Amino acid sequence: MLKVINVVGARPNFMKVAPIVEEMKRRAEEFAPLVLHTGQHYDAQMSDAFFRDLGLPEPDVYLGVGSGSHAVQTAAVMQSFEPVVLELKPDWVLVVGDVNSTLACALVCSKLGIKVAHVEAGLRSRDRTMPEEINRLLTDQLADLLLTPSEDGDENLRREGIPDERIRFVGNVMIDSLFGQLKRAETSRVREELGIAGSDYAALTLHRPSNVDERETFARILDALEEISSRLPIIFPVHPRTRARIGEFGLTERVERMQALRLIEPLGYLDFLRLYSGARLVLTDSGGIQEETTALGIPCLTLRENTERPITVELGTNRIVGTNTHKITQAAFAALDAPRESNQPPRIPPLWDGRTAARICDALLEKGNQ
Ligand code: UD1
Repeated sequence: MLKVINVVGARPNFMKVAPIVEEMKRRAEEFAPLVLHTGQHYDAQMSDAFFRDLGLPEPDVYLGVGSGSHAVQTAAVMQSFEPVVLELKPDWVLVVGDVNSTLACALVCSKLGIKVAHVEAGLRSRDRTMPEEINRLLTDQLADLLLTPSEDGDENLRREGIPDERIRFVGNVMIDSLFGQLKRAETSRVREELGIAGSDYAALTLHRPSNVDERETFARILDALEEISSRLPIIFPVHPRTRARIGEFGLTERVERMQALRLIEPLGYLDFLRLYSGARLVLTDSGGIQEETTALGIPCLTLRENTERPITVELGTNRIVGTNTHKITQAAFAALDAPRESNQPPRIPPLWDGRTAARICDALLEKGNQ
């Protein structure tokens, strides 16, 4: 029986951990799973809504660290996590993704000699100005078991000198949540509430510091959105970081004038799935949404200069367009003018099949008994 602490901290973690905990609970003779929430994200719409939508059990441990600079937040997670691990003595700690909580918990465990499994290992943007890239590089150096979502991840890890025994290609666990919740998401009334059911619209998310913490970049993106919104409404659930910057940069009036750019509160998992799955086009700077749109065959424009998820460009529907106004607008119009490919099934990357959580559990058992 393996006792596993499953760590969640920020919004993109919940949909990765939910299917893993569910699988562990199903295999109750093999696993004793615990859920630990660091509290990096704490607003109801950034956290609670996801527990509800994904059927994730209430956390067994809540650290309540909250927001702060990178150093403050990472240190706060480490300080409050260490006594918990010492007390609970897990066989494994499982961390996911690339947020500050991921690295903080991996670092604590590696010093205490507690085994760490990293889900979504091996992804690289090769852009060290991204805080997530630092978190990814370091977490992968520390973890005992590296569970990759795509084979480019395996290659990246090998190139960094990580031995094959630590690497397992298991597929993309976000897609377990996506396929598992598609049917339930049909009960969401979000399209009706927004008055866009049956019509063309785009969905937008924007929260990367490189896009929203610099006024000029943010303004360039807004210029593009203004042009695109002359063709179709853009629904924009606004991340708290982004909401704060709009106010600080004095952009509120400008945004309010753009009537077809519709700012709404952040959405829960099911409502957001319902929103983007019906969109003509998605514009985003998120990592996970590049993957979700690929799995559903929805055209996606990534407003960044690079991606750690190249398979979504090679096989999927993703295009990296950067933050130049003209480039974004051209790419959006090209996507809108292209024939709809609804007759063709999306090209889904290998092992993005809804069964990744089971492979993760198998890998843990195999490693755990070595
Ligand atoms: C974090 C992750 C990022 C992920 C994103 C998803 C890191 C380094 N970054 O970025 O990889 O894509 O989550 O959302 O871990 N805030 C609230 N309520 C909350 C949480 C945050 O109002 O529940 C506000 C706070 O003012 C905070 C700011 O948002 O200072 C940013 O939060 P933080 O957790 O530092 O980073 P994110 O931008 O959310």
